[in-house]
Amino acid sequence: MADRTGIFITFEGGEGVGKSTQIRRLADSLRRAGHDVLVTREPGGSPGAEAVRHVLLSGAAEKFGVRMEAILFAAARNDHVEEVIRPAMETGAVVLCDRFVDSSRVYQGVTGNLEPGFIEALQRIATNGVMPDLTFILDLPADKGLARARRRGGDEAPDRFEKEEIETHEKRRQAYLDIAAAEPARCRVIDADRAEDEIAAEIHSQVETAVAHPMAGEPAE
Ligand code: TYD
Repeated sequence: MADRTGIFITFEGGEGVGKSTQIRRLADSLRRAGHDVLVTREPGGSPGAEAVRHVLLSGAAEKFGVRMEAILFAAARNDHVEEVIRPAMETGAVVLCDRFVDSSRVYQGVTGNLEPGFIEALQRIATNGVMPDLTFILDLPADKGLARARRRGGDEAPDRFEKEEIETHEKRRQAYLDIAAAEPARCRVIDADRAEDEIAAEIHSQVETAVAHPMAGEPAE
């Protein structure tokens, strides 16, 4: 028998698409069903990566350019993978992560105009073989997501990545849809322009299928 391995699920999408609400709901329902669940996020999720999160989201690294930011996201990701995600997977937990490699592909790669080869080389180092089994891409028109993110932020100043224009957000939305089309075995696009309950039910049923058939989508031996 191989070592016990958990299941790694990531949530992606633009600002204000409702990732954190859906992660919380899925975590609750999986725990009720008896699963051991770890909820985490990027950038951050481990002490080292949380230190880098502050540098990135405050905009302190912005003046050094998008390549520097991409490398910092990757450094944070590698620490998070090795310190938190891989150990949790080895205990058989279900790991739910708010953002992961696809965020770097979309934010730094597509809207940051970095070469795909550069981004992919960073991802190979950052993930060191730990890739999500399943990725939910929460899809919402950019104007609706931005309006929600602003309401949620209240009087807080928008972070470095929230300040950008609507066209940039729409470009990111398309970039996520392109990733989903290129990797259909891993990615599920979820229409996030619906009632919270409906979205939660769809995500839950997709996860139940994945947990019951962990090798679904993999080629047969
Ligand atoms: P966060 O406050 O966690 O926001 P959100 O609720 O939108 O996830 O901020 C994370 C920001 O960092 C978000 O704007 C996306 C950006 N980001 C990247 O640009 N690249 C990455 O690899 C990751 C993980 C996040």
